[in-house]
Amino acid sequence: MSTPAIVCRDVTKSYLTEKTVTPALRGINLEVNEGELFMLVGPSGCGKTSLISVIAGILNHDGGQCLIFGRDPNEMSEEERTAYRGKSVGFVFQSYNLIPTLTTTENVSIPLLLNEWNRLDATRRAEEMLAKVGLTNKSRSLPSELSGGQQQRVAIARALVHNPRLIVCDEPTSALDHTTGGEIMELFRQEALNGNRTLVIVTHDSRIFRFADRIGVMDDGQIVQVASSPSELQLDKTTKK
Ligand SMILES: Nc1ncnc2c1ncn2[C@@H]1O[C@H](COP(=O)(O)OP(=O)(O)OP(=O)(O)O)[C@@H](O)[C@H]1O
Ligand SMILES: [Mg+2]
Repeated sequence: MSTPAIVCRDVTKSYLTEKTVTPALRGINLEVNEGELFMLVGPSGCGKTSLISVIAGILNHDGGQCLIFGRDPNEMSEEERTAYRGKSVGFVFQSYNLIPTLTTTENVSIPLLLNEWNRLDATRRAEEMLAKVGLTNKSRSLPSELSGGQQQRVAIARALVHNPRLIVCDEPTSALDHTTGGEIMELFRQEALNGNRTLVIVTHDSRIFRFADRIGVMDDGQIVQVASSPSELQLDKTTKK
């Protein structure tokens, strides 16, 4: 039997601003197995980014329990959390978050340098990853010199470069054409199969649903359905397209 990599029990999160409280997660219950490619779909504002940020240890949840490989990031010391994020997690942000003053290779090298690789090995490994996402010829470019889809692929290379156990991606194919998006999904699939890594991928792109082992449907801060195939999905209330 496969082991759960992620176990969320009644996870809640609200954002507090000066005048308002916005509930983003209203009791999330979810299990994702090691080696599984799990997709998360749902309408804008339903809490997808909030949920994967909690799972990645970037955001504290308010209530419930979120065990990732048996530990709740909320209960880690600051040092443990930094180590968890730096070693075990690869995150593709919705807005890519590339460092504008660094070249493509330098951006992709960051997780390796944080894990104390020497610069030469880090550069070699970063270039290998860039080849896998089809960007060999852009290694010296700055993010501002790249198209949106190319920047997105740099962000994906950076998330995979240090072989993290958990890969969390926010709309990783949103700026990619059908063919490139399919190639990137093949790469993610191989990561899940070969490396026994766990992937949680937020998407609105129904063309990539077929790459998922299971698809969770979110609505208004909750998981309302988990489907084992795209044909089982009931997206009447939740699809954007
Ligand atoms: N930093 C924040 N401060 C206050 N409210 C926030 C913050 N981040 C998100 N929210 C609110 O929390 C809710 C969930 O937001 P979240 O970003 O998780 O949604 P999402 O499903 O990722 O949406 P999208 O598909 O548009 O990216 C929304 O109502 C949003 O307005
Ligand atoms: Mg989002």
